[in-house]
Amino acid sequence: MSKDRFEFGKNWESFSPLIDDEAIRKAEERMASLLGTRDLSGRTFLDIGCGSGLHSLVALRFGAKEIVAIDVDPDSVSTTRVVLERNWPGANKSVRHVSVFDLEKETFGEFDIVYSWGVLHHTGDMNRAIEMAAKRVKPGGLFAVALYGKTRYCNLWKRIKRWYVNATPAQQDRAERIYIRLFGFYLLLRGKRLSKHIAGYKHKRGMDFHHDVRDWIGGYPYESISPIELTRLLAPLGFELVRQNVRKRSGLFGSGNDEYLFRKRP
Ligand SMILES: C[S@@+](CC[C@H](N)C(=O)[O-])C[C@H]1O[C@@H](n2cnc3c(N)ncnc32)[C@H](O)[C@@H]1O
Repeated sequence: MSKDRFEFGKNWESFSPLIDDEAIRKAEERMASLLGTRDLSGRTFLDIGCGSGLHSLVALRFGAKEIVAIDVDPDSVSTTRVVLERNWPGANKSVRHVSVFDLEKETFGEFDIVYSWGVLHHTGDMNRAIEMAAKRVKPGGLFAVALYGKTRYCNLWKRIKRWYVNATPAQQDRAERIYIRLFGFYLLLRGKRLSKHIAGYKHKRGMDFHHDVRDWIGGYPYESISPIELTRLLAPLGFELVRQNVRKRSGLFGSGNDEYLFRKRP
């Protein structure tokens, strides 16, 4: 039987022991720059597609009154529970095994901040997922979202990812090694070294290079969106763009996540 999704949770489970003070600090920097603040005191926070739980942890450290972390993958849910238990003994957190498509208002209510980093393009129906997530934002609240940008290689990567999720572990291993070798060669042509890139990787989002490579090659379902498409989708729901971090990339080695912060009109 062919598989229709990547097992993100397994990757997060094996990444989670690498979450140290430096990884947390880098994740804090990135969230602060997206939200424009380190002070979430008094605010409720919904983390959709919590993965390792690192970003829910950051929201708690920034003083969020209450966080709800959800993920469709049971291994992401158990990993987030362990990471939060280990780093945040407070009771103002709940981790639920739920899909974004089941976030009904009656059960979940609305949040001051809905945060979903690198998730909604992996759901198989990105536009509906974006709408479902956006509907959980309180009037006047914030919607922080990171989504793959459109590149000329999106269709090629979609095919590679579909192949990867159905490949044997040995084939997946080989694909990752080929990707890393080609990427190293690409860096070399630009006068950069792969070893230096890997060593400095934590300075990005507190992530680890090898887990991120697997997450990129395997991350299926896969979709991408342009800033204009996203703004058009959210405008009828009452959202205004506050800021965006959109980078131009070739897409050869990955689409990269564009970050957006929207505010819902009061
Ligand atoms: C690339 S990871 C991102 C994790 C985390 N947000 C981060 O930035 O590190 C994508 C996550 O989205 C989750 N996910 C995929 N489809 C989902 C859905 N329909 N509902 C909730 N979570 C989903 C995956 O299980 C995975 O943990």
